[in-house]
Amino acid sequence: MLQEKREVRDFWDGHPLGGSWDTFKSQMDWKHKREPWLNEIINEKRFRDKYILEVGCGPGIDLGLIYLKGARCVGLDISSESLHKCKENFRELGISVDLVIGDSEFLPFKDDKFDVVFSYGVLHHTPSIEKGVVQIYRVLKNGGNGIIMLYRKYAPQQIIISILRGINKWFSIEKFFKKRYDVDTTLNPKFGTAFEELFSCPIIQFTSKRGVKKIFKKINILKMELYQTGFRRLAVDFFKDASRLTSFFIALDKGTEKVFGFYRFIYFEKT
Ligand SMILES: C[S@@+](CC[C@H](N)C(=O)[O-])C[C@H]1O[C@@H](n2cnc3c(N)ncnc32)[C@H](O)[C@@H]1O
Repeated sequence: MLQEKREVRDFWDGHPLGGSWDTFKSQMDWKHKREPWLNEIINEKRFRDKYILEVGCGPGIDLGLIYLKGARCVGLDISSESLHKCKENFRELGISVDLVIGDSEFLPFKDDKFDVVFSYGVLHHTPSIEKGVVQIYRVLKNGGNGIIMLYRKYAPQQIIISILRGINKWFSIEKFFKKRYDVDTTLNPKFGTAFEELFSCPIIQFTSKRGVKKIFKKINILKMELYQTGFRRLAVDFFKDASRLTSFFIALDKGTEKVFGFYRFIYFEKT
C-alpha cells in the first residue's frame, strides 16, 4: 500500500466520521439534519429491493438509511475501525449488512454485480478519484446507477477550507479553533469530527465541472446536482447569536446552492 494511502487509512481509523455518540440513531439524525438532501436522495424508489454497494461507508450513517429503504447492502471502507463502528451501530438498529475492508481503487468484487453504487464524500480523500470511478463503473450491472458526491472546486466553502488548511501548515490554528469552540477531540455533538477532517485529513481534493467531465470522459453522466450548508454552518455553527436566524440561513443556502454549492452529486449509468 502506498504511504499516502496508509496515512489516509490511519487518519480515518483514528477519526471515524462524526466521532462517538450515545446512540447511533442520534448520530444519524445529526448528519441527516445537517445534510438534509440525503433524505431526498436516499429514497425507496431508488433503493428498494436493489443490490447496493456503498464505497467508503464509514460508520454506516447513510448505509443504515439505505438499508432501511429496503435495499440489500454491502458496505466497503478502507478503515477497519470505521467498519467496526459500523457493525456496532447496525447492532443497535438490529440490522446486519455485509461489510468489507477494501480500497476504492481496487474494489474486491466481480464485474457487473450491483444495481446501485453509492459513494458520498470518499473518492476525494483518495489519491486517484479516477481509479475509484473506473472501479465503481466496473462493478455496476449494465443499466445500473452510480451516485457519487465529490467536493466542488471554486465553491466558497472550498476556498475557505483551502485557506485554513494552508494557514494551519505554518501556524497551528487547529488548537485555537478547538479551544475557541470547545471541541473535545473525540466528540462535540455540533461539530462531530469536522475540525479533524478540516485540518488533519491527509488528502482533500476538489473537482471543477471540467475536472468531473475529464474523469467521466467515457461514462454517461445523467445529471449533476449541487447542495450546500455553507451559510448555515458559517453563521449558526460559529456565531452563537446567529442561531436565532437559523431558518433564514437555511433558506439562504437553499436559494444559492446552485451557484455556491460545495457538495456535487454526479449521477451516471452503466451502458
Ligand atoms: C468523510 S468519510 C465519509 C463516510 C460516509 N460516506 C459518510 O458520509 O458518512 C470518508 C470515508 O472514506 C473512507 N475512505 C477513504 N479512502 C478510502 C479508499 N481509498 N477506499 C475506501 N474507503 C476510503 C474513510 O475510511 C472514511 O470512512
